[in-house]
Amino acid sequence: KKIAVFASGSGSNFQAINDAINEKSLGAEISLLVCDKPGAYVIERAEEAGVEYFTFFPKQYETKVEFETEILKQLKARDIEFIVLAGYMRLIGCTLLAEYEGRIVNIHPSLLPAFPGKDAIGQALEAQAGVSGVTVHYVDSGMDTGPIIAQKAVMIKKEDTRETLQQRIQKVEHELLPRVLQDLFNQEKVGGVQS
Ligand code: GRF
Repeated sequence: KKIAVFASGSGSNFQAINDAINEKSLGAEISLLVCDKPGAYVIERAEEAGVEYFTFFPKQYETKVEFETEILKQLKARDIEFIVLAGYMRLIGCTLLAEYEGRIVNIHPSLLPAFPGKDAIGQALEAQAGVSGVTVHYVDSGMDTGPIIAQKAVMIKKEDTRETLQQRIQKVEHELLPRVLQDLFNQEKVGGVQS
């Protein structure tokens, strides 16, 4: 399965996917990293992993349609079949959805629908929640609103800081995301919709 990973930051989830592929627990190939922050650490990880990347400054385009059209060109040139948003801090627009809806997933650090949007970990601490977690879901045009595929809870301790909670949540992300991707790809095969 040829996938593209979209990321804006440190790329620890990109790394987890790449590691799972190398360990052969995930049958996929990251054919492209798409990054909207040219200085992000994820780009170093891609270079290290020998993964091609397309990086761009959204501000250099007049509209989302324009930069998504460029992204789409990059995806098509590599026959990308599936998109994984792993810390891509931007809503997906109509250009990419028209082509890939149902084949785009996102990972979010809360039990959706609780704490959608930015800083889900800060929101959970602010709300003094006893539990938060991780969600993998299909992407639609909303902010963290698409159909939920898998979730895992993470208990919040009284003494948790943003750092400690984020560490435990990310550990769960790195285990959950590759596993869910493999499950999805297996289901497609069983369904006979393989091309
Ligand atoms: C993850 O916690 C993900 O859930 C959120 O952004 C973070 C990205 O982390 N959407 P990384 O760049 O994969 O390290």
